[in-house]
Amino acid sequence: MKVKTVFFCSECGYESPKWLGKCPACSSWNTMVEETVKPESNKSLAAAGLGKKNAAPRPLKDITLGGEHRWKTHIAELDRVLGGGIVRGSMVLVGGDPGIGKSTLLLQMCETVAAEGGILYISAEESAKQIKMRADRLGVTNPKILLLAETELGGICQAISDTAPSVVIIDSVQTVSSDGITSAAGSVSQVREVTQTLMRIAKENAISVFIVGHVTKEGAIAGPKVLEHMVDCVLYFEGERHQMHRILRAVKNRFGSTNEIGVFEMSDSGLAEVTNPSLMLLSGRPENASGSCVICALEGTRPMLVEVQALVSRSNFPAPRRMATGVDYNRVSLLIAVLEKRVGLNLATQDAYVNVTGGIRIDEPAADLGIALAIASSFKNAVIPNNVLAIGEIGLTGEVRAVGSIEKRIAEGAKLGFDTIIIPSANEKKLDLPQGVTVHKVSHLLDTLRFFNKSF
Ligand code: TYD
Ligand code: MG
Repeated sequence: MKVKTVFFCSECGYESPKWLGKCPACSSWNTMVEETVKPESNKSLAAAGLGKKNAAPRPLKDITLGGEHRWKTHIAELDRVLGGGIVRGSMVLVGGDPGIGKSTLLLQMCETVAAEGGILYISAEESAKQIKMRADRLGVTNPKILLLAETELGGICQAISDTAPSVVIIDSVQTVSSDGITSAAGSVSQVREVTQTLMRIAKENAISVFIVGHVTKEGAIAGPKVLEHMVDCVLYFEGERHQMHRILRAVKNRFGSTNEIGVFEMSDSGLAEVTNPSLMLLSGRPENASGSCVICALEGTRPMLVEVQALVSRSNFPAPRRMATGVDYNRVSLLIAVLEKRVGLNLATQDAYVNVTGGIRIDEPAADLGIALAIASSFKNAVIPNNVLAIGEIGLTGEVRAVGSIEKRIAEGAKLGFDTIIIPSANEKKLDLPQGVTVHKVSHLLDTLRFFNKSF
């Protein structure tokens, strides 16, 4: 077959017959890479399994789902992120930094899913012996798990059709290559071809496919963005390498919510589920130190208590340094501006560092009040007592605005012994308070600060 040379944008997968400095699709510079491909007609239609002749339109109400269509992984944290289990015929992309635990998680999942059907684990990175060693360590012994060390797509497809498994794991998509394409494994056209072929197999045979994807330095899954568009579900496995806990986050899910997270802890016998993340995240919290405040963030349906720390100190630079880890930098700048203008704190000459402990990322406005309190507390060197939980969004005039699911957040605080809970007075409705909890309703940031310290 005739081979032609084309250029792909390594960011978005845009295809062009000639080199371009700037990608016309995603406007990024210097991202075009040259690759050779075999021309194929109607590639994308075939990939989606839509090219078949017998596909006539049918009334929506006549389409049946047929029996149970989800497999439980029996790892509750993983099931939640997947939206209640593995959907039959779905394709899931698991991304994350090297060494974060992707292979470990998927191998552990094999053991628990094998109860429901056959598993084929394809390793294109490690030898069968290496996988076996890891499996022994994790206690993965189920005889229904088949293992194959293979990097060629044809061989992988053959193995899938020979063994007819329910779940296939490909570790990783960047190390698998198709002989039909001359460019190296991990290149845009290879990754696209591998994903499309596996997608077709998954949809046609109702096999669920998990693919592992490496992450670039910038934190995105390596390869074209189309990879993320193609699959049904994209999960990111994140965490600091020197910290024990790992967070599994859904960034795309066609079968469930994308707000859910799963929390795991890496131990010497693999990943253990963390069913009470608040307790873990608050352990090691300093006693009566200024600049620390606990907030309650809602991750999907689950409330989670996290500590926000701030350090404000005199700046030696003409433009003070501002840093935010785990929260949006712009949000912190906004809160500092509100503290300056509406509360009258002179922060313009101060460096300010804000950190969410435990490597967690918070992107919920309900954390505003806690962040502002931590900054003010560090500035004034005034301690916020350890039994205080702060919940509320802050507006530009310094007003404290209502937040959703307030009762859930209060209940989580009460469970972990927080008996003084600051909430927005705009959360009007009568609350069903747990025993021993006092709620203070506040309407402005200044009132809140004065509640702790009269000198504000
Ligand atoms: P791995 O699953 O190989 O990561 P990935 O596939 O994402 O690259 O995980 C490797 C790390 O996990 C490695 O640094 C060792 C650690 N680990 C443990 O701490 N305990 C264990 O039981 C296992 C299997 C791995
Ligand atoms: Mg691995």
